[in-house]
Amino acid sequence: MTSRTSARATAAPRFALRLPAAPWRDRAGRFSTFKALVLLAMILPGAWILARLALGHYSALATEYLIEETGAWAIRILVLSLAITPLRRVVDWAPIMLVRRMVGVSAFVYVALHLCAYILDQKFDLVRVASEIVLRTYLTIGFVALALLTALAVTSTDAMVKRLGGRRWRLLHKAAYVAGALAILHQSMQFKLPEVEPTLLASFFVWLMAYRALSVRLDIGRSPIRLALLSVAVALLAALGEAAWIGLATGADPRMVLAANLDFEYEFRPAWYVLAAGLGMTAVAVMRAIVRRMQPARPSRRAAAGR
Ligand code: HEM
Repeated sequence: MTSRTSARATAAPRFALRLPAAPWRDRAGRFSTFKALVLLAMILPGAWILARLALGHYSALATEYLIEETGAWAIRILVLSLAITPLRRVVDWAPIMLVRRMVGVSAFVYVALHLCAYILDQKFDLVRVASEIVLRTYLTIGFVALALLTALAVTSTDAMVKRLGGRRWRLLHKAAYVAGALAILHQSMQFKLPEVEPTLLASFFVWLMAYRALSVRLDIGRSPIRLALLSVAVALLAALGEAAWIGLATGADPRMVLAANLDFEYEFRPAWYVLAAGLGMTAVAVMRAIVRRMQPARPSRRAAAGR
């Protein structure tokens, strides 16, 4: 062997294939109960869907059931993944960030299964699948959301963070908000009238986006008053949006729909759930503020060093 070939043989490969760490391990490689529980929570809906199919609950409508359930879980988990950073600020509990990537990738897995279920429904006729995606606006929107989520999942490894560089990686991962908005649109376009869950998810999404926008200038996660005001504003928006949609779709007087929000005999309208969730976050922020005040002030590093 010449000296040049032996040097080539012994040199470390530039991009060695490194398998990602097991999802239940923390950054130091230790078993994390929290991560393992979240992983279990991500797997459970899929297991539940498969179990119901295996038990024959939906034998006649199996593919429709699969499309609906995988889509529904994909969007729930996607919205949850977007809530993790604000939650970390409000709850002031750093380990929650350990599961952000796992939750985001889980949303992608459910979307991928959702597309597979659709292909199965179309009897693997890929030309038909492609033409439906091109011709039906709600499917085109879903496809763009899926493409964005694929890019995010592929670049979610530590190696990709290193390769792209922190700034570019963070910029790319802002596409999660666009994917979230498109996914909400894809879901909402399938209903003639607003349904409770899509209205709730859309309202939570608006809450999260408003929180992000306001956080650029204000530390909203640590201000219970601002959190409460934001929650009231988004709940009002949910009630107005719902009334406007029903008014436009049916010609009903939007004022009557709005008034239905105050009639608790039949059911609570989505705006109340949005308000309850927002005020729940506010209550947590209040408790955190109280606990912080009760804790003795930590001496600064300089004081601790006796300078
Ligand atoms: C190529 C991409 C996609 C295709 C072909 C697709 C296809 C479909 C189809 C055929 C339906 C059922 C419509 C019906 O019941 O008539 C559906 C529903 C749904 N999809 Fe997608 N979708 C795609 C992407 C996405 C993405 C990215 C998300 C969310 C992250 C999503 C979430 C949903 C939801 C929540 C529903 C409604 C489920 C329900 O009925 O409750 N889809 N999709």
